[in-house]
Amino acid sequence: MKSKRNKRSWAEPYKIKMVELLRMTTREERKKALEYAGYNTFLLKSKDVYIDLLTDSGTSAMSDRQWAGMMLGDEAYAGSENFYHFESAVHENYGYKYVVPTHQGRGAENIVSKIMIKPGDIIPGNMYFTTTRLHQELAGGTFVDIIIDEAHDSQSKHPFKGNGNLTKLESLIKIYGSKKIPYISIATSVNMAGGQPISIQNLREIRKLTEKHDIKVIHDMTRVAENAWFIKQREKGYQNKSVKSIVKEICSLTDGATMSAKKDALVNIGGFLALNDKALYEEASNMVVVYEGLHTYGGLAGRDLEAMAIGIGESVNDDHIRARVGQVEYLGMQMLEAKIPIVQPIGGHGIFVDAKRFLPHLKQLQFPAQALAAEIYLDSGVRSMERGIVSAGRNKDTGDHYFPELELVRLTIPRRVYTQAHMDVVAESLEEVFHNRKKIKGFKMVHEPKYLRFFQARFKKL
Ligand code: F0G
Repeated sequence: MKSKRNKRSWAEPYKIKMVELLRMTTREERKKALEYAGYNTFLLKSKDVYIDLLTDSGTSAMSDRQWAGMMLGDEAYAGSENFYHFESAVHENYGYKYVVPTHQGRGAENIVSKIMIKPGDIIPGNMYFTTTRLHQELAGGTFVDIIIDEAHDSQSKHPFKGNGNLTKLESLIKIYGSKKIPYISIATSVNMAGGQPISIQNLREIRKLTEKHDIKVIHDMTRVAENAWFIKQREKGYQNKSVKSIVKEICSLTDGATMSAKKDALVNIGGFLALNDKALYEEASNMVVVYEGLHTYGGLAGRDLEAMAIGIGESVNDDHIRARVGQVEYLGMQMLEAKIPIVQPIGGHGIFVDAKRFLPHLKQLQFPAQALAAEIYLDSGVRSMERGIVSAGRNKDTGDHYFPELELVRLTIPRRVYTQAHMDVVAESLEEVFHNRKKIKGFKMVHEPKYLRFFQARFKKL
């Protein structure tokens, strides 16, 4: 019999073998926990959290195969067997020639910035990411955003809001000259835009322009498989290609990559810097010794390298990605039905609530996204995070706050961790908070750390 449905479920391609018990809290307990945390969800204790959507970083569930791999750790200081397995997983799935492991993504960002950026350099990119930009600045460079304008508009339904604007890039090259631009920083699944993809076509155009000017493309491939899934869904000619082959095609259009394997690659810790240029690789493998550890372990145990090697393979599986993005979409659709303002199209790794539209009575300097994240936690014990003015930080030259167009609360979904019923709880909580939104008060910042302030800043209710 022919099914009446035109779409099949995104159901998970795995079953659950072990569970971690969660603690339920009362509203009174959560109120105290928030005060203790200075209204910053990063400062909450995990034991006080019911559903943890702070981040998808290092929070995914490893498979039985990955756990089995952990028992095969070869903990030799040098030349561990797990390193060679990891190296071949990078070659096979991403195609980059050389790789040095690092303890996580920012370890790779530090090294690539140090070896490629000179003071006074300009690094164009498709929207900033907090740690990436900071490492570029610490190396003496200045990040310049060249993402398309649609990316800054939460309501634009452009299918590839991660695309770069070629005109912006070209005019930067004209103004500064290619000698001052060591590379362009291209992220797949642009995090700060709401997990929005870049198209292959745009990447090809960027490649063509940068090649002409002898500028390298360094790829932030933290969520490359999720980006590949959107290409498969939305870009002409890719419907019948596997995620694995699209991932490889994306990588082939770039000269190297930094990776936080804590996301796509399904591990709790790990990352790497991959490069195609031998001389640059030699520099990187020397530099990694200074900051991370020998070039065959980069701050990781052998067992972590093994889990990462296996996770990389699992991460580019079509069935895995279909369910992963499907679950995010499932939550997003419930929000849209409840008329809650979120970034559209729904992104790959989480739902991004538009706090400016949710709380139009608050000014941006009253930290609406920070206040909303606190309120969601108070309502249900669901932990989210601010991605707005606090995350954006201050201009390194003028010291002024950046006022980003996007003032968002990110509900980030860890991979393979929560169920459909958990997503229902999250949606119900958001509906409740939305219903009472007019009562939500703004914050003032009472403690502001110098670097990456969103992690440790403290607030008081106005
Ligand atoms: N690039 C992107 C796009 C990221 O999302 C992250 C981390 C990094 C680089 C840095 O990697 O944390 O392994 O050092 N993002 C986390 C998040 C923190 O919650 O989005 P890391």
